[in-house]
Amino acid sequence: MNIALGCDHGAYDLKEEIKLLLAELGHAVTDAGCHSLESVNYPDYANAVCGKIIDGSCDRGILLCGTGIGMSMAANRHPEIRAALCHELFTAAMSREHNDANVLCMGARVIGPGLAAEMVRVWLATEFAAGRHLTRIEMFS
Ligand code: RB5
Repeated sequence: MNIALGCDHGAYDLKEEIKLLLAELGHAVTDAGCHSLESVNYPDYANAVCGKIIDGSCDRGILLCGTGIGMSMAANRHPEIRAALCHELFTAAMSREHNDANVLCMGARVIGPGLAAEMVRVWLATEFAAGRHLTRIEMFS
């Protein structure tokens, strides 16, 4: 899968860990930044990652900030994006199975890197169930 990855300064370290994991899992990663601990504005990175999905160059995105909240709010301003803010494994899986989330948002100040890595594994491996869930997500727009 082609995966776009973005973060702000609050999640730079986690982004670097997730980037390594994605490569280990055999995915192609587009790193949209940020690239240091210098303070930045998270909507810039949310928009960059969402743009990669909207233009078809990436299949899914992962957005990381301190809480994940700002990234999820910014990402969901795009009609094509279904961004899910998750803090544990169950919602990470359900965001795929029931909501066909194309962006996973996590908060680096909320969860540790081990849990984040497991959530990424589960989120990438879980298929959308479609059926009645497709009807529902089609009602978003
Ligand atoms: C940055 O300090 C922080 O506000 C940001 O990472 C995020 O938590 C916003 O939702």
